[in-house]
Amino acid sequence: MAAADPLEFSLLPLTSTINEQGHLEIGGCDVVELAHTYGTPLFVYDERHLHIRCQEAVAAFDDGVAFASKSFLCRAMASLAASEGLCIDVASGGELAVALAAGVPADRIVFHGNNKSMEELITALEVKVRHIVIDSFDEINRLERLVSDQAPVSVLVRVTPGVEAHTHEFIQTGQEDSKFGLSVASGAALAAIERLRAMAGIHVAGIHAHIGSQVFDVESFAKAATILAEFFIPLGLEELCVGGGLGVAYVNGEHAATIGEWGAAIRSALKEAGVPDSTVVTAEPGRAIVASAAVTIYRVGTIKRLPDIRTYVAVDGGMSDNPRPILYGSGYEAFDPARVSAPRPETVRVVGKHCESGDVIVPDAQVPEGIAVGDLLATPVTGAYGYSMASNYNRVTRPAVVFVADGTARLVLRRETDADLLTLEVE
Ligand code: LLP
Repeated sequence: MAAADPLEFSLLPLTSTINEQGHLEIGGCDVVELAHTYGTPLFVYDERHLHIRCQEAVAAFDDGVAFASKSFLCRAMASLAASEGLCIDVASGGELAVALAAGVPADRIVFHGNNKSMEELITALEVKVRHIVIDSFDEINRLERLVSDQAPVSVLVRVTPGVEAHTHEFIQTGQEDSKFGLSVASGAALAAIERLRAMAGIHVAGIHAHIGSQVFDVESFAKAATILAEFFIPLGLEELCVGGGLGVAYVNGEHAATIGEWGAAIRSALKEAGVPDSTVVTAEPGRAIVASAAVTIYRVGTIKRLPDIRTYVAVDGGMSDNPRPILYGSGYEAFDPARVSAPRPETVRVVGKHCESGDVIVPDAQVPEGIAVGDLLATPVTGAYGYSMASNYNRVTRPAVVFVADGTARLVLRRETDADLLTLEVE
């Protein structure tokens, strides 16, 4: 595969096609027209793609499998995932508020967080979430002051099994050093479970572990599941939640397992380790559901050709709508949605509009010949941890988000305005 190759079609949302003009269509909508209608930067989500990924997750795990809403949350997304039978994993009172506002029943919401406040716990108890995922002894202390023995509160205990999965490797050290969960090796996890079991008003439903994110190799999950099973079996609990973390392909040449393959590898490892068939095996995929469902459409505003150095192509967004390159060094492709199949022989640096040299979206992007000011430039696989981690740095307003399906686009999050930026000002 040559660097100048067109974008691999597999990186695009599932319903993507190329129309007669050579434009990208998603959900039957011409992306070039969407950019005209809604402006740029614009997140375009393929609704069909979202539905299919949710269905895969529901098929791969037992009832209780949750969508990790930190990856992308708005009311439309929460209600779509819930309508497909997924629970919603929330990690803050804010995420809980959005899921509830979307009409997700509280008993389909799992409440996470390593530092839940008293207020967050009170709300979680009031609305009666499905599970509170216990992360520390301080949280148990806080909960003890809140629960009564009338209506038992269901909890999972987040444990750190002493393993950590990375994108390309699996290591059995390091995970002890974590702000999340309670260590199995030190005995803290067991002590927490025993204490919770002795508390009136608490029902310990199971354990939870999350071993990493953007993990490609399903074998890593299988190995972790085996280690987790050893701790889980003697406890005789109902539910084992293996967290999220399945990786996705971001750039040409990358391949990722499907949600089905991920679930099958975990299930077979658990079975082999002797976990009873009656165990409710759940997970919390985020990225694997939403990442490749979306593309971000930018417009090129400035091109700076520095002879013998490089060409900078500046677009109308940047680190405020996609902080992943600057935070994690994450790679992305760039392509012109008006000529999707064009070869991309030019190497340029795609940058944003922020007052910071590090504001790079793609350090060495392949783009079609003759890229010009006014062209659209898109990055695929931006559906996860893009909008959800978006900021107002430089008081740049957040992009709009549209969902497309069957030839129709609907605006689910409008573009922020300068007036929105002033709503918090009190003097
Ligand atoms: N469950 C728990 C407890 C988690 O901490 C996470 C992610 C998930 C589920 C979902 O993981 P996923 O399936 O999306 O990999 N901002 C980073 C990712 C942080 C993930 C944090 N926890 C990024 O942009 O790569």
